[in-house]
Amino acid sequence: MFVDLRSDTVTKPSAGMREAMARAEVGDDVYGEDPTVIELEQYAAELMGKEAGLFNPSGTMSNLVAFLTLTYPGDAVILAEQAHTIHYEVGGITRIANILPLTVPGILGKISEEDILVRYNSATDIHRAPTTLVSIENTVNRGGGACYDYEEVSRIGRVCRQLGMKLHCDGARIFNAAIACNIEAKYLAEPCDLINFCLSKGLGAPAGSVLCGPKELIQRARKFRKLLGGGMRQAGVLAAAGLYALKHHIDDLHKDHERAILFRRTLEEKGWIFPLPSPTNILFVHVKNAHSFAQTLREKNILINSVHEKYIRVVFHRDITDSQFEYVLETFTKLN
Ligand SMILES: Cc1ncc(COP(=O)(O)O)c(C=O)c1O
Repeated sequence: MFVDLRSDTVTKPSAGMREAMARAEVGDDVYGEDPTVIELEQYAAELMGKEAGLFNPSGTMSNLVAFLTLTYPGDAVILAEQAHTIHYEVGGITRIANILPLTVPGILGKISEEDILVRYNSATDIHRAPTTLVSIENTVNRGGGACYDYEEVSRIGRVCRQLGMKLHCDGARIFNAAIACNIEAKYLAEPCDLINFCLSKGLGAPAGSVLCGPKELIQRARKFRKLLGGGMRQAGVLAAAGLYALKHHIDDLHKDHERAILFRRTLEEKGWIFPLPSPTNILFVHVKNAHSFAQTLREKNILINSVHEKYIRVVFHRDITDSQFEYVLETFTKLN
């Protein structure tokens, strides 16, 4: 049995979640007839302070649907170099949405209003693709789980509105950000036209993301989801897992953050180096050789991902038991 610290995506449905899935009332969701999907979309929208929600099979599709909804082919989008949508979503942003990504270095994968002003292209400029969208990520996966707080998202939202641009948030882990910022998630979503969040990461559902925003944008998004093949039929079985996660698992996320703090403190006392702040459940740890370190850990039944030749990534999540956590601490401590 491995202790799997590669990602919070490895979490499996809890017993209560499986029961909710088994009990779910279902219908054909492409006809808009699945009551559980409808309930999930409404509940998710309420949590995000938006009018409507759209249940998507994955975070990747949710982001792509958002790009298609908020732009026209040939537009440009401003986003951080470290964005998940740039690194890990198979280039759908260019290949399918046909928009030009204009990246900024940012700090910890976060961009500022100054970055936006520098990258902004006016629609009247004859030479340039018009920047019609800004996309941020909260929390930032490749930024060690860094988060934008309310002030930061509000400032970005203000600049976008002033310049007539839309704002999308890839909030795959927005509830982790909300916990770290001690604020309800809907306030972090407030300045965004659309926000996507994932049910299948730290919340433990087997699949699914919800894209939330105003009714007319979600209606447009629903058509793009169908275009991409994401219209699901009796999806209520999955939506039931998502609803269960939202009602029962959000409050548990803080434990993952507490473990991250304890893990970091314990190892720092032993001289380990953490190159980035780690306000949520994702930590980058400096090692001499990430590949061989990952191999050594595997031999001790611990799985981690290396993210650079000298950094590994450790992600805490709800499926790590107390005794597994103790084992992880003990093993790392012995390895230095
Ligand atoms: C920040 C972020 N956005 C989007 C995604 C994509 O989600 P999915 O794996 O459901 O496509 C991930 C997945 O890890 C992620 O970390």
